[in-house]
Amino acid sequence: MKNTKILVTGGAGFIGSNLVKQLLKEENSVTILDNFFSGYRSNLDPFQQVHIVEGDVRDKAAVELAMRGAEVVFHLAASVGNKRSIDNPITDAEINVLGTINVLEAARKEGVRKIVTSSSAGIFGELKTMPIKEDHPIEPDSPYGCTKLCEEKLCLSYAKLYDIEAVCLRYFNVYGPNQRFDAYGNVIPIFVFRMLRNEPLIIFGDGEQTRDFVHVDDVVLANINAADSIGVSGAYNIASGTSVTINSLVNLITKGNNNLVRVEYGPERAGDVRHSLADISLARQKINYIPKTDLESGIDEYVKWAQNLVLDLK
Ligand SMILES: NC(=O)c1ccc[n+]([C@@H]2O[C@H](COP(=O)([O-])OP(=O)(O)OC[C@H]3O[C@@H](n4cnc5c(N)ncnc54)[C@H](O)[C@@H]3O)[C@@H](O)[C@H]2O)c1
Repeated sequence: MKNTKILVTGGAGFIGSNLVKQLLKEENSVTILDNFFSGYRSNLDPFQQVHIVEGDVRDKAAVELAMRGAEVVFHLAASVGNKRSIDNPITDAEINVLGTINVLEAARKEGVRKIVTSSSAGIFGELKTMPIKEDHPIEPDSPYGCTKLCEEKLCLSYAKLYDIEAVCLRYFNVYGPNQRFDAYGNVIPIFVFRMLRNEPLIIFGDGEQTRDFVHVDDVVLANINAADSIGVSGAYNIASGTSVTINSLVNLITKGNNNLVRVEYGPERAGDVRHSLADISLARQKINYIPKTDLESGIDEYVKWAQNLVLDLK
């Protein structure tokens, strides 16, 4: 993607800031709409050429202002995570559902050609067949899963009603640089930062639950490919297509530190699924999505990034 006018909602967040970096590298003109609720201003420090609208997706006027001139929208702003939605279900719905309607309304009025929205594997609920294909039963276990599903359906209905294409990317467990330890419920940052602070790693349940972790660079690639796929609308799984148990993940993270890092087991958490593994063949077919980063090298890179951040914070 080159020389395109782009709006990234949630661009100060973990995935958003990685996406903005790549979009700028490809010489696009980027506006970010973010209220900095869970995103960090420091994530935007490296970007000089970006236009920032500090505002809330729940505020129609702010969304319309940020949308001016946009040809493509990447919609990432959200109330993120199961736990946050269980704690604050009304806010979750206001941001993820009503906020998405504001974005869609402003986009269609502005004549945006494509919206790529960030959905979640949380829409599926408990795994019934393995690996999970896009047509797997959809039975979310949390308000977050429900609002992300609603977000998808809204985008796809706008693609049917109006002259706008919509691609919904169902991310599985994303990890990588700019993901902070306080990211709600994300296991890799929590474990890595606890390890770096000599705190015990706490596994919820027996640790034999599985997750499909995907590196943020691959998620960025999926977003850009989705925007570049002319004539394509739909919802696609974005994952690595491989899964690991949480116990194996701990071994990958603590490599070389096994004797020093304490691991403790706690009770299972409400809203967590037991297993997760995606079939990513449809994304490959429709938007040419081929993940490139394997978990071991991705974790090595992430630990180095986190070590530098911990040093900076000291
Ligand atoms: N990280 C994952 O593993 C994962 C998995 C599935 C889906 N997703 C989705 O990907 C997207 C990005 O998630 P992330 O992990 O980068 O989280 P994040 O919290 O780092 O990013 C979300 C961004 O949205 C902004 N934001 C929140 N509420 C807002 C509001 N009302 N108005 C404007 N901006 C607001 C935050 O400040 C933040 O910058 C989200 O839509 C999330 O649901 C993430």
